[in-house]
Amino acid sequence: MRNVNEDTITKIALAYHAHAEDPRFKQIMTGAIQHLHAFARDVALTEDELYQGIQFLTDVGHITDEKRQEFVLLSDALGLSMLVTALNNRKPAGCTESTVFGPFFVSNAPRYENGGDVANGAKGEPCFVSGRVMGLAGEPVPNAHIEVWQADSEGFYDIQHDGAESKARGSLRSLKDGSFHFRSITAESYPIPYDGPVGRMLKALGRHPWRPAHLHFMIEAPGYERLITHVFREGDRYLDSDAVFGVRSSLIADWKHHERGTAPDGTRVDTPFSTLDFNFVLNRAAAAVPHRSNAA
Ligand code: BEZ
Ligand code: FE
Repeated sequence: MRNVNEDTITKIALAYHAHAEDPRFKQIMTGAIQHLHAFARDVALTEDELYQGIQFLTDVGHITDEKRQEFVLLSDALGLSMLVTALNNRKPAGCTESTVFGPFFVSNAPRYENGGDVANGAKGEPCFVSGRVMGLAGEPVPNAHIEVWQADSEGFYDIQHDGAESKARGSLRSLKDGSFHFRSITAESYPIPYDGPVGRMLKALGRHPWRPAHLHFMIEAPGYERLITHVFREGDRYLDSDAVFGVRSSLIADWKHHERGTAPDGTRVDTPFSTLDFNFVLNRAAAAVPHRSNAA
């Protein structure tokens, strides 16, 4: 097509992919082109601004490697990740809400038995975490695969440190009654990485990079939907201004503070410590056979 102009270009660009093989890909690209063109018209984008935008995305790509995912960070900081999480995780009342996954999950984290110390030497005040994994009818979910990960008291995940050792992350299984317990460190608020292009963007927008203190969980069990969520710490100053929009009221818990003494697992702790007890309610997977107690 020749003589394409500002009035005809959107329609023509869409017509060019009329025969795309994958209908879902075609639908996504149609929406993306329509919205990108509408955005350029809306803000009357200049050539210089388009170039700056391209340069910004180039910088995001350059700083991204296997340890740092700046594109995920960008999606998180723009609220896109949390929007997609919300769109894809509508659940019946009573189920634990999902929240943003973030860029710091690592697969094949070390396995722990219940009672194990997931901190593995990470810096921080000891925290003793317990809870139960359940279904909506209150049925225990035994043998659920539980992944936990968190930042240390300096605000860094293990993969942000130079050492290769896994710290403050691990996996364990729920027991017969759905319960689990482990030792870790008390979560503290921390800034998302802001020494790169996303940090520059936040600064230019007059935004802070902080996330309220939280502990990440991913829980999987046959017959149930996978749950990706956090537990947030009541009282944190950033609960109402999370840099990645992830806070849900139902995910805020009281992390009880204790002076040194005997921990819930009977061990002696010579420093102050905290305890957290939080139950997770999984949504049944769409195709799952109804649980006995639900079948009528
Ligand atoms: C996190 O909680 O690990 C996280 C989430 C989004 C962006 C950066 C960090
Ligand atoms: Fe986090």
